Amino acid sequence: MSLREPLKPPPLLSVRDLSVRFCQGDGEVTAVAGVSFEIQRGECFALVGESGSGKSVTALSVMRLLLSQGTSLLGDVLLDGVDLFSLPEQAMETFRGGRIGMVFQDPMTSLNPVLSIGYQLGEVIARHQGLHGEQQRLEAIAWLDQVGLPDPPAQLKAFPHQLSGGMRQPRPLM
Ligand SMILES: Nc1ncnc2c1ncn2[C@@H]1O[C@H](COP(=O)(O)OP(=O)(O)OP(=O)(O)O)[C@@H](O)[C@H]1O
Ligand SMILES: [Mg+2]
Repeated sequence: MSLREPLKPPPLLSVRDLSVRFCQGDGEVTAVAGVSFEIQRGECFALVGESGSGKSVTALSVMRLLLSQGTSLLGDVLLDGVDLFSLPEQAMETFRGGRIGMVFQDPMTSLNPVLSIGYQLGEVIARHQGLHGEQQRLEAIAWLDQVGLPDPPAQLKAFPHQLSGGMRQPRPLM
């Protein structure tokens, strides 16, 4: 019998040698310099660093949401083996919000202040799951339940300013 190492499952997310540079005036700012990490399925991963060290820019790069002109983005991001940086934008839109999501740092500017929580969740559910009407409402209630918000049907009618800061940035209960 041969002694073999147990097979390590392929990572869910793999970031390899990510570098991000922004053009600023005549020069360049290096926001991320050669960052690599892997996240396994079901793993809770924390990226820690001082203010301005590039955590948000790393997350925004993975989501392909860095829109500044003249931004140089190098490296590879693989989600379940799919190279996100090579995907056409249309395919990326299916991944973004479908397979990979982001809780933004400032929820007051991420959520639309004039649309109810139910409407904003409904847009995502319609786009990625094709659900409408009552089915969509039930799915939104299930989502809010998953993140432990009390009275989900009432939250659907609420507007962002009626939720607390923490309620605007919920995470699934572990
Ligand atoms: N669009 C941009 N154009 C130019 N520079 C930027 C841009 N976005 C971020 N930066 C710079 O990139 C660096 C990293 O910023 P980032 O927002 O990733 O920091 P952070 O680690 O998330 O900080 P915090 O803990 O304060 O949220 C900073 O020096 C910031 O000024
Ligand atoms: Mg940040």
